[in-house]
Amino acid sequence: MNINEQDFFHQATLRICGSLEIDKALLHSFEYLKNFIPLDEMWLVLIDKDIGKLRAVAGADHNGARKMDKIIYLPWTIRNELGKHDFTPKKVNIINRTEDNPLALNLLNSLGYPDSSSLVFSLSTDSNRLSIFVMRATGKDRFSDSHARLVTMLHDPIAIAMSNALRHEELLKLKEDDNKYLVQELRQLAGEEIVGAESGLKNVMDMVHQVAPRDNPVILLGETGVGKEVIANAIHYTSHRKDGPFIKVNSGAIPEGLIDSELFGHERGAFTGAVTQKRGRFERANGGTIFLDEIGDLPLQAQSRLLRVIQQKELERVGGSETIKVDVRIIAATHRSLEKMVAKNTFREDLWYRLSIFPIIIPPLRQRISDIPALIDHFLKRKSRELNFRTIPQIDPGAIDRLMDYPWKGNVRELENMVERALIQYSGGILSFDRFNFFQIEETPVISKSAGKTLTLDEVDAIHIQSVLKETRGKINGVGGAAEILGLHPSTLRFRMDRLGIRYGKIIRTT
Ligand SMILES: Nc1ncnc2c1ncn2[C@@H]1O[C@H](COP(=O)(O)OP(=O)(O)OP(=O)(O)O)[C@@H](O)[C@H]1O
Ligand SMILES: [Mg+2]
Repeated sequence: MNINEQDFFHQATLRICGSLEIDKALLHSFEYLKNFIPLDEMWLVLIDKDIGKLRAVAGADHNGARKMDKIIYLPWTIRNELGKHDFTPKKVNIINRTEDNPLALNLLNSLGYPDSSSLVFSLSTDSNRLSIFVMRATGKDRFSDSHARLVTMLHDPIAIAMSNALRHEELLKLKEDDNKYLVQELRQLAGEEIVGAESGLKNVMDMVHQVAPRDNPVILLGETGVGKEVIANAIHYTSHRKDGPFIKVNSGAIPEGLIDSELFGHERGAFTGAVTQKRGRFERANGGTIFLDEIGDLPLQAQSRLLRVIQQKELERVGGSETIKVDVRIIAATHRSLEKMVAKNTFREDLWYRLSIFPIIIPPLRQRISDIPALIDHFLKRKSRELNFRTIPQIDPGAIDRLMDYPWKGNVRELENMVERALIQYSGGILSFDRFNFFQIEETPVISKSAGKTLTLDEVDAIHIQSVLKETRGKINGVGGAAEILGLHPSTLRFRMDRLGIRYGKIIRTT
């Protein structure tokens, strides 16, 4: 065939580069090129050299073009071939007999066409990503040097078009992920993504639903990391105030001298440095909810102002005399015992009464171990996305049992951190959560002295028995029970506990 090469190049380039969508670009190229060379099918294939994997991402044949995601694993004997293979840019390899070329044989076998001739060339436009373009014609000895020469002319336009199309694909995918992420965030805010809402946190969620539609103050009680903030979010976003502001204040994080002005605002000149008038967070939360985290850290003076907001729904800015009406729902949280603080006069008793109308106690993770697998799954997905993992690693099933046995003193946050650490240390294969993923904090047994006073043997016994019971979550009998660990007969241990005044029940609550 007599071909005007310049015209061929021009027409082919127009078709190849005519679309950003990979399947369309492939189809247009296929339709044009098949007039000049033998052609039954062509594919764009990405190569992952390190793990010896090929991924066919798009293909075109006489029936049309399609995006695809076909993974082709190469046997280790051929992986080395990848390293040796001539991927010199612009060189179009003619493989007329696949049996002569193990890589082509494997590739065409996997794609279902062992008995073909092929033209293969690399599109190394991106140094991180090696991709190859494969053109196939059924039967042996179909390609000649003149075919290869024509295709060589088209190397650059094909390389550019494919690399742009791949980039376009990636952007679309990112956008899709972003959308999914946003939807998920919103769901979480609205309380739908609370793991365990139907199991370990069922009672808590029942209370959330009871209290959300009302305006009364709520106090969230629970150890550190149990999910107090998550529950505060759920209350706000399921309440009629959900479109209003949700203002969070961590009382412990604001210097004591500034907390009044931060919460209630100040007038100009109220104190040195108050050069302008400022609205406080309560005013900014008007029509919405304020979340007072770590309320046990609130100084007494701020407690008095807070009491007034709760009782009269009004406040005065620091240094001001004008009374400002505010309509704010208060959610407070603490991991401290406010009752004990009341007894020590560091927390106002009247404020405690006001806040404790509706306490929600969030149980520690060790009292809802059945939620652990779902939480691990949740954090694996979330953290893999945040760390830009392409796929979510599989977990060793035995690891889940081990994690369910762990005491989780830091609760859900500790579990979340552990998953993140495991992912950061992950180097492929099955995720086993070995001991290196846990914090290695050895507790030194300094129990023979307390506040400088030497303890009696009975006191040391009592402390030790209690700490073992805490580990076994109150279990005395049987395998893994406290009696076994302490090397005592269970009735001996019970007798000793009675004598030392240690109460027993299945769950030992910690204060
Ligand atoms: N039920 C849950 N479902 C999903 N994620 C949760 C759940 N509970 C807690 N988390 C996650 O665990 C982490 C700790 O939760 P959160 O900050 O709400 O705890 P906290 O009780 O406020 O802790 P602290 O007392 O330390 O302030 C957060 O990243 C949160 O998203
Ligand atoms: Mg918190």
